[in-house]
Amino acid sequence: MTPRTPVLLLGRCLALLLLTGAASGEDILIRGGTVVNADRQFQADVLIRDGLILRVGPGLKADRPGTRTLNAAGKLVMPGGIDPHTHLAMPFMGQVTCDDFYTGHAAALAGGTTMHIDFALPVAHDLLAGWEEWQRKAQDAVMDYGFHMAVTSWSAKVAADMAELTKKGVNSFKFFMAYKGALMVNDEQLLQGLRRCKELGAIAQVHAENGDAVAEGQQRVFDAGITGPEGHALSRPAALEGEATARAIRLAEFVGAPLYVVHVMSRDAMEEIGRARQRGLRVVGETVASALSRDESAMWDPDFDRAAQFVMSPPIRSKEHQAALQAAVAGGVLQLVGTDHAVFNSTQKRVGRHDFRIIPNGVNGLEERLHVVWQELVASGRVTPSDFVRLTSTAAAQIFNIYPRKGVVAEGSDADVIVFDPAMEHTISAASHHSAMDTNVYEGYRVQGKVVTTISRGRLVWHEGRFNITRGSGRFVPTPTHGPLFAGLERRAEPEQALLDAARYGGVPVRRAGDQPGGSDARDEL
Ligand SMILES: *[C@@H]1O[C@H](CO)[C@@H](O)[C@H](O)[C@H]1NC(C)=O
Ligand SMILES: *[C@@H]1O[C@H](CO)[C@@H](O)[C@H](O)[C@H]1NC(C)=O
Ligand SMILES: [Zn+2]
Repeated sequence: MTPRTPVLLLGRCLALLLLTGAASGEDILIRGGTVVNADRQFQADVLIRDGLILRVGPGLKADRPGTRTLNAAGKLVMPGGIDPHTHLAMPFMGQVTCDDFYTGHAAALAGGTTMHIDFALPVAHDLLAGWEEWQRKAQDAVMDYGFHMAVTSWSAKVAADMAELTKKGVNSFKFFMAYKGALMVNDEQLLQGLRRCKELGAIAQVHAENGDAVAEGQQRVFDAGITGPEGHALSRPAALEGEATARAIRLAEFVGAPLYVVHVMSRDAMEEIGRARQRGLRVVGETVASALSRDESAMWDPDFDRAAQFVMSPPIRSKEHQAALQAAVAGGVLQLVGTDHAVFNSTQKRVGRHDFRIIPNGVNGLEERLHVVWQELVASGRVTPSDFVRLTSTAAAQIFNIYPRKGVVAEGSDADVIVFDPAMEHTISAASHHSAMDTNVYEGYRVQGKVVTTISRGRLVWHEGRFNITRGSGRFVPTPTHGPLFAGLERRAEPEQALLDAARYGGVPVRRAGDQPGGSDARDEL
């Protein structure tokens, strides 16, 4: 995808400025706004210097010449969004997602997101090769990013490479329970992976759908003559998402590992997470902007291009599921909102014109997420602005163990800050978005409120509708292992430990007439 020319030119000019030293970090003073953090909101100015938040408090003065002062009266000053779930420049189903680390980041910044955690995929099941590949892709980054790594097979090398990756700053590994014959792992592999994650203090993530049943369902729907995008919705019902979510939860419980369920799209999966949390398990539920605001009816649109845009997995579901997920986010059953931003343009989606099974999966959202969550949950009165910050930023920073460097407007934190004008109405459209996509699943969606300014590590990168970004200026943010989900975990007893609980019924193996002394050794000699 060719980036938009003005952005590119501005980027080049800036690079020159940087070379001559002219751009070595101006101070930014945000005055008169309401700072909103996950714990509270309060009136304060924010002074930014050298990429960090230097001061937060009333009546701050610009004490350096050339300080850029922004008037935030009537506006909210919040930590930049952190999208925990994206796929930039990802090869998938024979195509490559058309937002890369440059266009995707520009889009994100325009929508108030200042960091994301992307899913690196192994190359031919090789995790370290995947890591190298995603390092290359990220050379164009214009904002901060982290990586999760997918685990698509199991071997001693995979286990060793996982440890190696944690040293490089990856603290989360994703297992696909769907995409049979491609990315999917079976239960045995998932169990090994869960144990290894626990050992390493890394977060195990699952894409929870029953891949075997999905493959069967797809075949049945296709054989029945339904070949269009609606077949996608029909072939992988919510029950299959609920089943895999429950299975992953029970297996994680068995080995005593915390579990993170990505893109919860249905009431079925959400309720499994709710039950698990009520049973005291450390299960995190992430939903995505599309699940909170779009519904499956679009996949029945007679226009293939329109219908195909909505194809992602697990599928976007009915309005009833949408309402249940909104309530679950508001009620704390689900802890954070990502996007699963994985964009394939109309040309790419048309590959599946006559077979929904090969429509590349994915919808946009990296640029829209904050606005959609605000509109659906804050503008409707369901959650407070502080909840909004928690759902879109703070929770991700805490779970992935980079808080309070990210996820809060506080002294010493990275200066990833946005200014939000709750009075400015706008309408989302492919004609005005900044992604490389030619379509937008939020086309025509009206939002009460808008991100007017985005500051990324102290740089004013988006302001009053203009970018000032530099290719390659984004940095990898290492995510350390043993985050909050692991605190005190060693004191919990997991069912797996009880397998060898010799104390039960007398504390020794039962000896029976004819048993050989020495157990398994004796059996080996037979
Ligand atoms: C772009 O940002 C740099 C600092 O990163 C600043 O020096 C420069 O003046 C900005 N350019 C514009 C047009 O605002
Ligand atoms: C979609 O992306 C492909 C690959 O980058 C490109 O060749 C094609 O022209 C794009 N199509 C549209 C409609 O943007
Ligand atoms: Zn995804």
